Amino acid sequence: MSKKVTPYQDSGLNKKKQVEQMFDKISGNYDGLNRVISMGTDVKWRKKVIALVKAQKPNTVLDIATGTGDLAIQMADINAKKIVGLDLSEGMLKVGRKKIAAKHLTDKIEMVQGDSEALPFEDNSFDAITVAFGVRNFEDLEKGLSEIQRVLKPGGIFVVLETSVPTRFPFKQGYKLYSGYMLPLIGRIFSKDREAYSYLSKSAAEFPYGEAFNNILKKTGFINVENKPQTFGVATIYTASK
Ligand SMILES: C[S@@+](CC[C@H](N)C(=O)[O-])C[C@H]1O[C@@H](n2cnc3c(N)ncnc32)[C@H](O)[C@@H]1O
Repeated sequence: MSKKVTPYQDSGLNKKKQVEQMFDKISGNYDGLNRVISMGTDVKWRKKVIALVKAQKPNTVLDIATGTGDLAIQMADINAKKIVGLDLSEGMLKVGRKKIAAKHLTDKIEMVQGDSEALPFEDNSFDAITVAFGVRNFEDLEKGLSEIQRVLKPGGIFVVLETSVPTRFPFKQGYKLYSGYMLPLIGRIFSKDREAYSYLSKSAAEFPYGEAFNNILKKTGFINVENKPQTFGVATIYTASK
């Protein structure tokens, strides 16, 4: 298992509380910085996630760690009857709810405050579940994934988009420079919370990816587990079912 990386190491709070506080704090400029940090590539990755979900023709979709709701909003086009976005951070959800209202999608997308490690849904509730850049923030990864497995319907699809680490020259070296120096610098310049952006790059470097994450998915009960590295391996899309 990876080392425990938390946003505010000396705060005395558990990782979950620290993560919630951090996202509450950066929620106002999260969307803008997200585009800068990923140099716009996250838009392309999200489209791939949506295509995978759409292919299943789901009626009910749950987007966990939905944050400001980008993925949930883009999934509004796939003809699902109901989309639920769930997140720990009320600050992130507030930004998301505004975006949803502006797009007249309040009937279709519900934003719920909650914890992925104790999901407020019955077993077998959703046809599709997504998590974009969320799993590495979970305090107890296996508990979060087991809960997702519990609320996914048999035959349903689970899609994870998460940062990973390129393994080949020169992308490996380029990635180290970018995430070790550039990313914290961008965070320091554009965000009021420098620790947050240092946490985001540290947690990306430490988080299990590829086969290691596949194995955790299998251990928590998922089947048909596959991973597809994106853009030289800086992100990976994982698919699994129940
Ligand atoms: C990097 S943001 C990603 C937001 C969004 N999915 C996106 O793609 O832009 C990570 C989100 O995970 C949420 N999060 C972390 N741990 C969580 C948990 N245990 N349950 C629910 N949400 C969680 C945070 O509050 C934060 O909004």
